[in-house]
Amino acid sequence: MNTTKDKSKYWVDLKDNSQTVSTSWADPRRFFCDVGHIVPLVHSLKPISIRDIACGNGRHIKVLLEFFDYFKNVELWDFNSIYIDKLKRYYSKQSHINAYELDLSDEECYFSHGSDLDLCFGSLHYILKDDPLKVFFGRMASTSFIRVPCSFENRIEIDTFSEDLQAPYQATYRTVEEYIELLSLHYDSVEWKYAYDVSFDSLHNTRQIYILCQKEKNVSLESLEEWGHWLA
Ligand SMILES: C[S@@+](CC[C@H](N)C(=O)[O-])C[C@H]1O[C@@H](n2cnc3c(N)ncnc32)[C@H](O)[C@@H]1O
Repeated sequence: MNTTKDKSKYWVDLKDNSQTVSTSWADPRRFFCDVGHIVPLVHSLKPISIRDIACGNGRHIKVLLEFFDYFKNVELWDFNSIYIDKLKRYYSKQSHINAYELDLSDEECYFSHGSDLDLCFGSLHYILKDDPLKVFFGRMASTSFIRVPCSFENRIEIDTFSEDLQAPYQATYRTVEEYIELLSLHYDSVEWKYAYDVSFDSLHNTRQIYILCQKEKNVSLESLEEWGHWLA
């Protein structure tokens, strides 16, 4: 059985966004695709508080802070203490930017201030069971933008030793329909679109999906692609 500590150790190998086969999620072209959606989203919503859940090295927030200077509260969450310690040091002089070591699978997970916009990229498949995910979705912000790898067909539950990673690997690849059903328990508007393909070499039948969830619909997923629209 993996402990949180074991997982944390495993993720350390991914921390630099560079080396090893396992960092395909950190490919800059895919990152620009995320940025191409979140910059227009933030521009449209103008959130005062924003949170990046399972933030890794914090790359998404770092870019947003270069575009926008009006955030009053920025939170970065991850269960990997190495990322969190680094982020704490990096933002130590900006009291409105805080990093927290939190495990999303923990139903008591500490939601400190609430947030206007939650981001969560490439991480929800690590919440293995649906019940904690339901609880988690119920606590997310009124607008949330997610990228998650989904299975093309049936749900895939993996609990194995990964040769690619040379480490234990556990994940649940849900279908888009499963995510929509769980999110619709808490959100009035749930839209999704294909983002791009990326998966470990040994797992070809998943694809990355963007999901935009809103309690009150203020922006459409389609409009985020119209760069000219938000530049106007
Ligand atoms: C593929 S990385 C994505 C990181 C970041 N969102 C990005 O796109 O750059 C997955 C991240 O999820 C974090 N993570 C996985 N399971 C978690 C959990 N149960 N609680 C908190 N963070 C978790 C890992 O530490 C890692 O930083």
